[in-house]
This record gives sequence, C-alpha cells and structure tokens, in this order.
Amino acid sequence: MADIPRTEAPPLSGKEEEERLLKALIGRELLTNEEAREFLSDRPAGERGAHELLRQLVQFNYLTPHQARRALENLENWLHQPIPGFQILEKLGQGSMGVVYKARQLSVNRLVAIKVLHSKLASKPGYVERLLKEAHVAAMLSHNNIVQAISAGSVGPLHYFVMEYVEGPTIKQELDAGKIFEEREALEIALQIAQALEHAHRRQLIHRDVKPANILRTPEGLVKLADLGLARRVQDEERAEEERGTTIGTPYYIAPELIGGQVEADIRADIYSLGATLYHMVTGRPPFPGQSTLEVLQKHLSEELIPPDHVNTRLSTGFGEVIEMTMMKDRNLRYQDPGELITDLEALLRGEPPKLARKKLSYADLSQLAQGEVEADGRAAPEAPLGKVSAFWFYVAVAALVLSVLLNLLLLSL
Ligand SMILES: Nc1ncnc2c1ncn2[C@@H]1O[C@H](COP(=O)(O)OP(=O)(O)OP(=O)(O)O)[C@@H](O)[C@H]1O
Ligand SMILES: [Mg+2]
Repeated sequence: MADIPRTEAPPLSGKEEEERLLKALIGRELLTNEEAREFLSDRPAGERGAHELLRQLVQFNYLTPHQARRALENLENWLHQPIPGFQILEKLGQGSMGVVYKARQLSVNRLVAIKVLHSKLASKPGYVERLLKEAHVAAMLSHNNIVQAISAGSVGPLHYFVMEYVEGPTIKQELDAGKIFEEREALEIALQIAQALEHAHRRQLIHRDVKPANILRTPEGLVKLADLGLARRVQDEERAEEERGTTIGTPYYIAPELIGGQVEADIRADIYSLGATLYHMVTGRPPFPGQSTLEVLQKHLSEELIPPDHVNTRLSTGFGEVIEMTMMKDRNLRYQDPGELITDLEALLRGEPPKLARKKLSYADLSQLAQGEVEADGRAAPEAPLGKVSAFWFYVAVAALVLSVLLNLLLLSL
C-alpha cells in the first residue's frame, strides 16, 4: 500500500491527542466510557499529550503496562485513525446529524467523506441501527449524479457513514457567497439532479432533503446529490409510523405536504424541493423567506408563490413556468415524476417552450378556482388531494351542463 504522507494531517494539540487517544481506547474496549469519565473528573483534559496520558492511566490502574505499551506502539495510527482504516484529514462541515470529515481510505488510498453521528443522536434508541440501515439503502444506488455511499459502521461510541468525497463547493456555499445563477447554468444543474432523482425513483427511493447544501459540484462541472441519509424506501411503513407527527426536511425547501408529517412523502416532495432550490439559485432568495421557521412553513402551505421571472426579469417565461410547476402546493398538479420534469428541462435547454408546464399550469388555474369553491362550501376534506377534489367538481359542472341542455331540449320539444 502506498505510504500516506502524514503532512496532510494537521499537527494535534496536546488536548486533541488526549481526546483522540481516549476515544481510541474506548473504541478498542481497553477503557469503558465510565472509566474515562471517572479518570477525567479527577484529572481533566489539558495539554498532557498522549504519552503523559498513557503514563497516568497506568499509574492510576486504568490500563495495564502491557495495554499501554500496545497503545504506544500503535499511537500514530490510533491518533490519526479514530475510525480504523481511515485517516481523518480535516473537518468539512457540520449538519443536523453530525460532523463531516475529509478522510483517506487507506486500503485503496482514496479520499472519502465521513459523516460521524452526533453523540446525542447516537444515544437515541434505534437511531444508529437506522443510520446503518439507511447506508445500505444508499449503497444500492450508483449514479454519476449521486454521491456514492461507501460503507457505514461503528467503533465504540463513534457511528459513521463513509461516502464519496466531492471537492465542492455546495450550491449553498455559492449562494452564501452571493452568486445568482444564470438560467442556462441553473438548467444544467437541475437536469443532473432530476436525473439523480429519476435513478432513485426507479428504485422506489425518495431523498426528502433536496436543498442547496446537499448539491455538490465537482471541479469537472458534474453535479452530485448528497445525503441519502434521510432517504428510505417508499414502502418503509414502519419508519413512516415512527416519523408521523414530526416534520422532516429544511423549511426553505420543504414540500407543503411534509409539513406536519401527516402525509406519506413521495418523489413529488423531492420535485418541489428541487424547484425551491432552483428558485433560490436564479433569484438569489428562497421562495418563501421568513423570520421564523413557522412563518416559512405557513408560507409554503398557503402563500402564493411570486413567479421567479417576476423577481428576476432576465429569466424566460418558460423557465418561470417550470419552477412554478415543480412548486405547485398540490402535489397532484406538479410534475408527477422526475421523468416529466426532465422532459421540460430538456425542452428549455433546446430553446423550446416547456410543453408539460404550459399545458398543466392552465389546467391548474382552473382546478384551483374549483378548489376555492369547494372550500367556500366547507366541504373540502383536509387530506383530499386537490386534483381529485377539482376533478370531482369538474365532473359535477359537466353533469350540470348536460342536464341543463337536456332540460332545454325537453322544454323546446313541449
Ligand atoms: N460527500 C461529501 N464530500 C464533500 N463535502 C461534503 C460531503 N458531504 C457533506 N459535505 C460537506 O459537509 C457539510 C455538512 O454536511 P451535512 O450533510 O452534515 O449537513 P447539511 O447537508 O449542511 O445539513 P443537514 O444536516 O440538514 O443535512 C456540507 O455542507 C458540505 O459542505
Ligand atoms: Mg447534507
């Protein structure tokens, strides 16, 4: 195996050495969590460094001299490999689930990204098992536009998820730096993410957290969808049950039907989130900005979307229509699967108008009018999909029309 230059790993402070060594000892079951806590309560971590720490652990009978010698022999490895087989290089970022590190997978000498679960999440019953299960699900996917899941595992208290390293930046980093994407660039990114979703959809998977922070760009211009950590099989009833009543996702990009967790998510939620992400990319602001999470959520549910081409007048009407269509509040009026969205994105890229969006949006206007009538009657079922309700009123209207024609004919014949 190639020699890994140590210079890539930044030098550790005495305190970092202590922390890593303690984790490594716990991970290798040479020390329990309890013992580590007890040891530190009398002798808090300072600038002792690894050697002095080992000496004290032997002095106070936490380790045998033999164990300490073994630790000393492997010190380099243990300090730089809290996760066996991987050399941690640097911290890449942090999210709600844990910290992401850049690392080197030593067996094949390649760079990877490792997400290490927050300890407070790891202590939640069932959480780790779920993470590992999800890693297996994610590993079933293999697509150029999806960050490849590599492996997952646990070392003592550390639970981790290894994935392909993508140099970045994320779309979020670009937005934070003030970038507003040109229409064509945004279209090319959207097409790649729609293709990633199409691949997941074919395998009955949904992502459920499509957002700028989960879209990474390679230096070669490829776009990759990260974090299938929240994804799962659409049919996973057991987990849907666990999650009922909780809101999953990020407020700026979350589909309305996921708010409150009452409705089973499907691929159309990902289509909405991709639309919301695109909206942000081309206008420089999220579709529903707000001072609080609640305000943003309420806007997703009931505020009318300002068409993106009204916010950024350089955008073409067709592109505006596609975003509006992805972001219809009623999921029955959105593109029904990524393939439909791809059709319109490809049309736009060829300089043609989006066929599906144009056709469906005019139908949507009519059916949303009908929905207004339903609500005025107070007869709308809260869970009823808007499209179905609208179709119902459409048929009632047609039946009334036919009836009135028949009545007129009858009157005339009298
Ligand atoms: N595979 C990867 N390659 C390179 N960098 C990554 C990779 N995955 C994540 N990152 C970096 O780590 C950061 C944190 O990722 P993480 O998924 O934990 O949080 P997030 O996506 O920002 O938010 P959330 O926790 O809500 O998903 C990302 O914003 C990105 O900069
Ligand atoms: Mg992420």
